Amino acid sequence: MSDRSLLVIILAAGEGTRMASRLPKVLHQVAGWSMLRHVLTTTRKAGATRTAVVIGPDREDVAAEALRVIPDAQVFVQHERLGTAHAVLAARAALAEGVDDVLVLYADTPLIRPETLQALRAPLAEGAAVAALGFRPQDPTGYGRLLTDGEALLAIREEKDASAAEKAVNFCNAGLMALSGAHALRLLEGIGNANAKGEYYLTDAVELARADGLKVVATEADVDEVAGVNSRIQLAEAEAILQQRLRRAAMAGGATLIAPETVFLSADTMLGRDVIIEPHVVFGPGVSVGDDTVIHAFSHLAGAQVGAGVTIGPYARLRPGSRIDEGAKIGNFVETKAAHIEAGAKVNHLSYIGDAHVGARSNLGAGTITCNYDGFGKYRTEIGPDAFVGVNSALVAPVSIGAGAFIGTGSVVTSDVPADALALARSRQVVKEGWARDFRAFKSAQVKPR
Ligand code: UD1
Ligand code: CA
Repeated sequence: MSDRSLLVIILAAGEGTRMASRLPKVLHQVAGWSMLRHVLTTTRKAGATRTAVVIGPDREDVAAEALRVIPDAQVFVQHERLGTAHAVLAARAALAEGVDDVLVLYADTPLIRPETLQALRAPLAEGAAVAALGFRPQDPTGYGRLLTDGEALLAIREEKDASAAEKAVNFCNAGLMALSGAHALRLLEGIGNANAKGEYYLTDAVELARADGLKVVATEADVDEVAGVNSRIQLAEAEAILQQRLRRAAMAGGATLIAPETVFLSADTMLGRDVIIEPHVVFGPGVSVGDDTVIHAFSHLAGAQVGAGVTIGPYARLRPGSRIDEGAKIGNFVETKAAHIEAGAKVNHLSYIGDAHVGARSNLGAGTITCNYDGFGKYRTEIGPDAFVGVNSALVAPVSIGAGAFIGTGSVVTSDVPADALALARSRQVVKEGWARDFRAFKSAQVKPR
């Protein structure tokens, strides 16, 4: 990685109008992360030493998300929407601090990869003042066109300002730009708004730099990486591209995905070696899975830390705060939430285990339910190691079951059970010989047969 300092300026002032949404566009998610989080994470991987985020007025939600990802990011507000150069200049204070390289990105371009940002920035180290990122879309309508002469980039012409000949060019501006820190502020301040839209165009930095005799270049990126998201349809297209990337990376890392096209991953899903993922499994954010674990079909995991050699599902749901240790088993129709299931423990069928701690090797029978909520508060269930909870038991929290204790089937456990004890919390069975025969005879005498 370069030892040159890098200021990244992210334009995140895009509204959600074409998304038909109350949520600002850049907070819409792909692969479990907001688009803004994707871009911030990628720029950090590309070596950003400082990050500035330009947001629209009254967008505390966008500022909060930026600071969640990069706590020392500088957030600037663009009060009026007067164009991309005007937006970059909202971060004037960050530019004025002085830096080697500047990268400008849009927060609605979540698929950009760190390698591409490094390639875009590389010419700055060799003396270029400006570098633009081009791509070749099937339909160039609406994009700025990169006008080149061999290696040299002469100008970027916006669609509305382009001649017919210029419109025929299909080498388009992705919108991302690298600027030399030594020239950035002066170039940006020189940009005017005498154009068809009456906006301050960032793209005009190209012609201004050339007029100063500075070197300006264009690099090329894959269409799939620079696709901007302006609608829910494009959001779904970005999701599809990203899912394909994540599945391939998971398989390259040693996980078997039997039907990869049916598995949905989050940007931060971590799968160990020789993990097997059966069809139709969904990973929400914050999941890690240890080596040799099998996730059976139709399971849903989010915010869960799954150890090695674990079996999950089929049809299991692991909610945030689930921690499943080595060799444990979570079977079909089992839901866990904020539950630590220690090594070798088994919850095999039809259970809800929430706000709980289950000790090593304990066995929770089918239908065991932690009653963790009374409509007001949440309460914890503590189960020691080597305990045995009989089928269809309700554990009314707060409650604790000691190590090696035994709970009789069908119990409603409302008070603590000491270690190695047996708890029976159900009514005793009553047997009345001949009762059913007598009942039928009595009823038959009352009701006249038809
Ligand atoms: C811009 C480029 C165009 C490129 C295209 C790629 C300019 C002048 N044009 O055009 O060459 O092909 O992107 O998608 O740069 N923004 C602000 N404040 C503003 C204006 C824009 O923050 O005042 C942000 C927007 O939220 C958006 C980005 O900058 O994220 C691009 O703005 P937009 O108006 O969509 O530019 P385009 O016309 O698409
Ligand atoms: Ca746009």
